[in-house]
Amino acid sequence: MDKQQSLASLAAEILEKNICPELAEQATQLVLGDGNPNADIVCIGEAPGKAEDTQGLPFVGASGRFLNEMLAAAGMERRDIYITNIVKYRPPGNRDPTPEEKKEFWPYLMRQLEIINPKVVITLGRHSGACFIPDLTISKDHGHARKVQYEAHEFLVIPLYHPAAALYNGSMRQVLIDDFVTAAELARTNR
Ligand code: URA
Repeated sequence: MDKQQSLASLAAEILEKNICPELAEQATQLVLGDGNPNADIVCIGEAPGKAEDTQGLPFVGASGRFLNEMLAAAGMERRDIYITNIVKYRPPGNRDPTPEEKKEFWPYLMRQLEIINPKVVITLGRHSGACFIPDLTISKDHGHARKVQYEAHEFLVIPLYHPAAALYNGSMRQVLIDDFVTAAELARTNR
C-alpha cells in the first residue's frame, strides 16, 4: 500500500468507527487532509471551517488563502506540503473543538504522521500547538523548533500563530511569513 492508499484507508476507518458521531452528524463531510503524502512538512490546524466543510479540504477559506501566501514566501506551493487538522469534522458554528474531540482524533493524527513521516510538523494556532507542547506560550514560542516525544514517536514541532491571526491583525502577517520561512528552511536541512 502506498502512502495515499494508507491515508484513504485511515479515512475509511474513521467513518467506519464513527469517530465523534455528534460532529459527524452536523458536518457535511470528513476533512482528513490534503497535499503531498511524501512531503517533508505537515501543517496542522485546529478543525475545518465552513469552506473546508463544504469542499472537503483543509484551509481553503480565508485562512487558507493566507497560508498560500506563507508558502509562496518560502518558494513553495500547496502540493509541496501536507495539510490537516487536529479534528477532522467542522464543529457546529465554528466553535472550538472540545478536549474530548481532540482526544478522539489524536490517534488518527498520529497515524497520519506515521504514514507521512515528515521532517517538520508545523502547528497552526495556539490550540493545535498545545496538543504537542502542553506548556506552549505562543507569543514566546512561535517560530522556535522543539523536539517532542509522544509514545514511540519523535517530532520536530514548530508552533506558529494561526494564519487567521493575520486577517485580524496586519502586523501578524510578517511574523507568520518569517516563521514559515524559518520552518521551511529547517525542513530542508533537518536530518
Ligand atoms: N482553520 C483551521 O484551523 N483549519 C482549517 O482547515 C481552516 C481554518
